[in-house]
Amino acid sequence: MRHTVIFCSLLVSMAGLGFGGGVGLKDLTRATKGGDPVSGREIYVNTCIRCHGIDGKGAQGIKLVPSPADLSSPAVQNRLDGTLFRRIHEGKPNTAMGAWKYALSDDEIWDVLAYVRTLAVGYNTQP
Ligand code: HEC
Repeated sequence: MRHTVIFCSLLVSMAGLGFGGGVGLKDLTRATKGGDPVSGREIYVNTCIRCHGIDGKGAQGIKLVPSPADLSSPAVQNRLDGTLFRRIHEGKPNTAMGAWKYALSDDEIWDVLAYVRTLAVGYNTQP
């Protein structure tokens, strides 16, 4: 029993380290209605991070024209949930942003969108 507790806390601290101590420590409890930002984070890390980067501002060294949208910016964050959902679902023609409807279910897109909301500048400092 005691060992299980130690093992679990070890896992938790490793997960924290895995995200560089930044994203892993984010308060994920205030994200969008509907989607689950915790499972969204897993999807983001597996599928979006290589272009949009760990903080949404774009992956380092990526050379795309146009460059990946800055998901932390007000320009993106001010869009309605429905608009962002559609962008992720349908992709954006003539850009590297693909239509994720072929790879992700609607629920998974809501989850990843809930996580994208946590990338907003100042997210953790909002009341
Ligand atoms: C291959 C690179 C690539 C991957 C992978 C990728 N994106 Fe994108 N994304 C882009 C590019 C490029 C744009 C378009 C930038 C523009 O509009 O000029 C974009 C645009 C977007 C937008 C629209 C922002 C706006 O202007 O409103 C959202 C939202 C978005 N991406 C979310 C995601 C999510 C969520 C994932 C993972 C499921 C993802 N992207 C995966 C490259 C990528």
